[in-house]
Amino acid sequence: DKGNYRHFMQKEIYEQPEVVGHTLGAYVDMTSGRSRLPGEVALDFGAVRRMALSACGTGYYAALTGRYFFERYARIACDLDVASEFRYRESPLDGVDLALFVSQSGETADTLASLRYAKAAGLKTAAIVNVPESTIAREADAALPTLAGPEIGVASTKAFTCQLTALAALSVRAGVERGRISGAEEAELTRALSEAPRMIAEAFKLESQIEAIAREMTTHRHALFLGRGSSFPLALEGALKLKEISYIHAEGYAAGELKHGPIALIDETMPVIVIAPYDGVFEKTVSNMQEVAARGGRIILVTDEKGAKAAPVAAAATLVLPDMPEILTPIVYAVPLQMLAYHTAVHMGTDVDQPRNLAKSVTVE
Ligand code: F6R
Repeated sequence: DKGNYRHFMQKEIYEQPEVVGHTLGAYVDMTSGRSRLPGEVALDFGAVRRMALSACGTGYYAALTGRYFFERYARIACDLDVASEFRYRESPLDGVDLALFVSQSGETADTLASLRYAKAAGLKTAAIVNVPESTIAREADAALPTLAGPEIGVASTKAFTCQLTALAALSVRAGVERGRISGAEEAELTRALSEAPRMIAEAFKLESQIEAIAREMTTHRHALFLGRGSSFPLALEGALKLKEISYIHAEGYAAGELKHGPIALIDETMPVIVIAPYDGVFEKTVSNMQEVAARGGRIILVTDEKGAKAAPVAAAATLVLPDMPEILTPIVYAVPLQMLAYHTAVHMGTDVDQPRNLAKSVTVE
């Protein structure tokens, strides 16, 4: 039931403060500020030094973000593959202590095959899954839940932010178990994560501004998304969301890759969405933004209050989120990108919840 919403996707975007909060509650004891594993899950990160992560589509972008979390907070090296490559790549998997899969449905054929491949190779496996009775949840050694509830819209929204939440909290748990994070740091990070629902609600306030940007977006046939660090996977996810429901051709790039090719595409007709929270790589991203501005590209900057003040070039539009701890930015910055894709598709008149050629669950290779 869509309730008062026009589409399931819109409803699911708006459910995010609640379901992200629920998911976080499974991985963090809010009273003590300690990270934990949900329910009966048995998984020990203490001896994990290297992980292999694999998933498809949006789940893959969540896993790619997870790599930033795990490498930074737990000092666990992460290999990453889309599942359709992992299963055939013939990686020796040397030194891999744990294989971690991410899937909303828990039924994606390539991800399931990759899980079975990892098990056959003798690896310990874990899977972050939204459907607890799914095949992947049943077959993984450790099933790690996201509590997004049923996701009906084909374009994933709330499942993605819940995956990011679980990955962020797990990386903190792993950091503690590996002795890389002190109790005080754990408390600070979990406190930061507990702000996610409120920050997502703040992002909703940008909706009318995003709607106006989306109206303009419909006049373009192409768009570029740029991000650095943990905002790089968001650039990929923002581009995927836009192309799958509005059919506008969009590509996401690591901002530093701009000058290695895609800069050739930039002219006055090219919207460039720059995702740049005021973090450790902000200055670098901004210098890439200047390269876009110098070539007349139409910049849509997604940043925070500090970033908006520090940005040296005027963007065609600036979406300003509140300043927030770094661990939160992937979770919160996903939301304006979802809203941008949603409103562009609505203006284009496409079938938002059932985009052409796509299925909610891809159970064939
Ligand atoms: C994009 C989208 C797909 C899925 C992918 C994996 O919005 O929904 O890219 O993320 O098909 O599906 P799951 O997560 O069910 O394995």
